[in-house]
Amino acid sequence: MGRTRVSPTTSARNAATDPDLNPPHAIKLLKADHIVIRSLFSEYGRTTSVGKKKLLVARICAELAVHTQIEEEIFFPAVKQALKDKVLIPEATVEHDTLKFLMSQLLGATVDENFNARIRVLSAYVAHHVIEEHNLLFRRAASTKLNMLQLGAKMVVRKAELLAIRR
Ligand SMILES: [Fe+2]
Ligand SMILES: [Fe+2]
Repeated sequence: MGRTRVSPTTSARNAATDPDLNPPHAIKLLKADHIVIRSLFSEYGRTTSVGKKKLLVARICAELAVHTQIEEEIFFPAVKQALKDKVLIPEATVEHDTLKFLMSQLLGATVDENFNARIRVLSAYVAHHVIEEHNLLFRRAASTKLNMLQLGAKMVVRKAELLAIRR
């Protein structure tokens, strides 16, 4: 199975195993997810095996789905309220919708040149979205009085629930 192995799941990188995430800080958790997702895209770019590409796309979509859901359910509402934001969170949510549309075109599709093109577009779009979260949203969120450890603890619990549902 060595040829079809993919990287460990994000669930392997959690508060229990990663000293940097213990206690779980909301922004650090989200950044850790971003690193995992970026590494999966890089792995996709290096692989030529159709079987492994399909596995990687399933992993990328699962990681993105759980990550965006946690942001939308827990992180975004808290930050929106703390910042009284009417711009950043709505824009990030619209970008999530676009990510979901791009993902819907990948799952179950044949691996051909269009598939590879869709992955490249999804990868570029995720990179753009992540840069905006890091440079704008996370920075501004960090300047609020939000309790990031409390938020992070909620996110860890919800992520475990969502991952369990997907198994
Ligand atoms: Fe994110
Ligand atoms: Fe996001």
